[in-house]
Amino acid sequence: MVTKMLPDPLADFTTHSPSVSLRFIMFNQRIKVSELLKLDPNGQSVTVMGWVRTFRNNQFIALNDGSTNTNIQVVVELGKFDDALLKRITTSASLKVTGVIEPSLGKGQKMDLKATAIEILGDSDAEKYPLQPKKHSLEFLREKAHLRFRTNTFGAVFRVRHALAFAVHKFFNEKGFVYMHTPIITASDAEGAGEMFRVTTLPMDGTAPKNEDGSINHKEDFFGRSTNLTVSGQLEGELGATAFGEIYTFGPTFRAENSNTARHLAEFWMIEPEMAFCDLEDNMNLAEEFIQYIIRYAMENNREDLEFLATRLEEEEKQLPQDKRSELGLIEKLEFVLNNQFERITYTEAIDILRESNHNKKKKFQYEITGWGMDLQSEHERYLVEKHFKKPVILSNYPAAIKAFYMRQNEDGKTVAAMDILAPGIGEIVGGSQREERLDRLTARMKEMQIPEEELWWYLDTRRFGTVPHAGFGLGFERMVQFVTGMSNIRDVIAFPRTPGSAEF
Ligand code: 4AD
Ligand code: MG
Repeated sequence: MVTKMLPDPLADFTTHSPSVSLRFIMFNQRIKVSELLKLDPNGQSVTVMGWVRTFRNNQFIALNDGSTNTNIQVVVELGKFDDALLKRITTSASLKVTGVIEPSLGKGQKMDLKATAIEILGDSDAEKYPLQPKKHSLEFLREKAHLRFRTNTFGAVFRVRHALAFAVHKFFNEKGFVYMHTPIITASDAEGAGEMFRVTTLPMDGTAPKNEDGSINHKEDFFGRSTNLTVSGQLEGELGATAFGEIYTFGPTFRAENSNTARHLAEFWMIEPEMAFCDLEDNMNLAEEFIQYIIRYAMENNREDLEFLATRLEEEEKQLPQDKRSELGLIEKLEFVLNNQFERITYTEAIDILRESNHNKKKKFQYEITGWGMDLQSEHERYLVEKHFKKPVILSNYPAAIKAFYMRQNEDGKTVAAMDILAPGIGEIVGGSQREERLDRLTARMKEMQIPEEELWWYLDTRRFGTVPHAGFGLGFERMVQFVTGMSNIRDVIAFPRTPGSAEF
């Protein structure tokens, strides 16, 4: 048996000779296009692999491997390759190309990859390939979500999404938070809003075991009780925080709310930090620092993609009437958020501003400002951030009646220590609060809201054994990705959106 020596992985990049044998090179010994484009092209031999974006004049292949939106231009010298091979270089065919890099003679790119060997890894029938090398609408691409990552827009969006997710972990890791994996299947409704997807293995054909009153008997179900997909990891997160001090979750959450809007998903990802020894103000400070941190990370690491998305947004907004366009470009907006503190006002102040606004006086709100106690609609939130303050706003101390049972009751007897962060163009991006740590107050509130104590005995134990002031919040990850990428529909920032009536792919 002949044992081959593994090649020096750098050999090909250091040699100036294109004639180095590639015979022993492992299949995936390739350079990513993003790395390749950083090199000074002076005859190095390299191998790239990717998908054909376009093939012009039987000579120029724009090859993309997903590491960047910038394609490498592969130059196919006339007469050097078989016609049969060239015919197979079609849009979205996958190729392995070896060649040498040289400064490009053409405009628009820094280097050419002059091909010495081309291998077709996978053919792509140009007649049948669903995406044409032209601009498609976002709606059309949503129906082709399995292929839309191969477009520039979605390439940029999902690389930025990745960077933001990475930055989330980096931020909390640097602060010493413990990453906690809370369960996906639960028996509790953390938000008490009843918007849950049921989880059951009982038959759906009417033969499920029933109680005497005709309701389904979940004692016979898989978990011996009725269960659902989690709407929030917060309650379990509080158990972690009251042991580790500071934890965060980052996972999928599910809401069966029938909201067909550009900001709602039935399955979305949420980041929920929970901190012991922390009050409402500490909570707001952390949320603001966190949002700025992850934006800064994307600005520093994904500049090219963000600039692409900024241009895309500018183009898209040209279709809109002047007063509907953003005042700031995407990059300027992000810079503004980094360089300015969020506005902090109470719910009560917000109601006053809304009531006194010209917008209200001219009856331009679809939902009337009825006064203190009303729940804010997204048009009200957006008025505050986009028209009045023109920056992110943290609203605090909401009426207890419109908030969840676990929020800390303020001394005024009518508000709770809640906070929402509202972002321009998005509306609510964060919801959080200081938690009610006083057992008697908490159980009294649960009684009022008809939440049975027996179901949350484990949650109440944290208040029985060494209770502490604590607080936390939830950031809707997709809304954050929307804010940073400027994508107006939430369906375009998650790989495979789940929304009412739609769960394809
Ligand atoms: O305001 P919410 O419902 O708060 C909670 O779930 C708390 N347990 C969080 C906590 O204090 N730990 O949801 C938090 C955030 C919202 O501000 C919003 O950004 C996002 O989650 N969100 C959604 N995102 C997409 N689609 C939906 N249907 C969403 N519902 C909430
Ligand atoms: Mg909320």
